[in-house]
Amino acid sequence: MIIAVDGPAASGKGTIAKALARHYALPHLDTGLLYRAVGMAVLEAGGDPASPEDALEAARQLASALDDPGLKSEAAGRAASLVSAHPAVRAVLLDRQKHFAGQPGGAVLDGRDIGTVIAPHADAKLFVTASAETRAARRHAELVGMGLDVHLDAVLHDIRARDERDSARSAAPLRMADDAVALDTTDLTIEQSVAAAIAIVAGRGRHAAND
Ligand code: DC
Repeated sequence: MIIAVDGPAASGKGTIAKALARHYALPHLDTGLLYRAVGMAVLEAGGDPASPEDALEAARQLASALDDPGLKSEAAGRAASLVSAHPAVRAVLLDRQKHFAGQPGGAVLDGRDIGTVIAPHADAKLFVTASAETRAARRHAELVGMGLDVHLDAVLHDIRARDERDSARSAAPLRMADDAVALDTTDLTIEQSVAAAIAIVAGRGRHAAND
């Protein structure tokens, strides 16, 4: 079974995807980490994430380690959002993601274009949303928990800018697939969000089996 989980920054899609992977004993890929790794590599090389040439070179040379905690930083997120707008960067990362999705037994992938581009035939597709204010508050709490001194307003501003960039770009913009099920987590706890996601996948799974 392939499960596609898409949605905007800090919507809870990563947490939900991880929980679904555990529940169904499937491998999980957080595809945002690929773009974050490319973005960080550009920054570390002193390049400009907005430059297609700098971003493409970093994508081509991408080392596979995706467990660097630095990839979770706001700087990496911002750089990721910039490099991910370049079609050539997306093309370089496409095969790796499609290969992960196509492994025997299936997989859970989360990102922006899983249901639309990477795995259009996924058995279940979720589009996880939450209000910008709620997402900013969650991300702010997370950053403060990491000991960072950040202001809620700045986080909200960043989230809105990222939404705009991820949705407005021409290459694989953030868009809900026609056959995805929307899950708004604004008023849900993590446990409630996960339970709702499992219920959606279970429902879709039955539907797919009966097709
Ligand atoms: O999910 P995230 O915050 O880790 O993603 C970081 C950036 O990477 C996001 O702003 C847009 C980009 N991204 C993408 O374009 N396509 C994906 N499948 C995943 C992430």
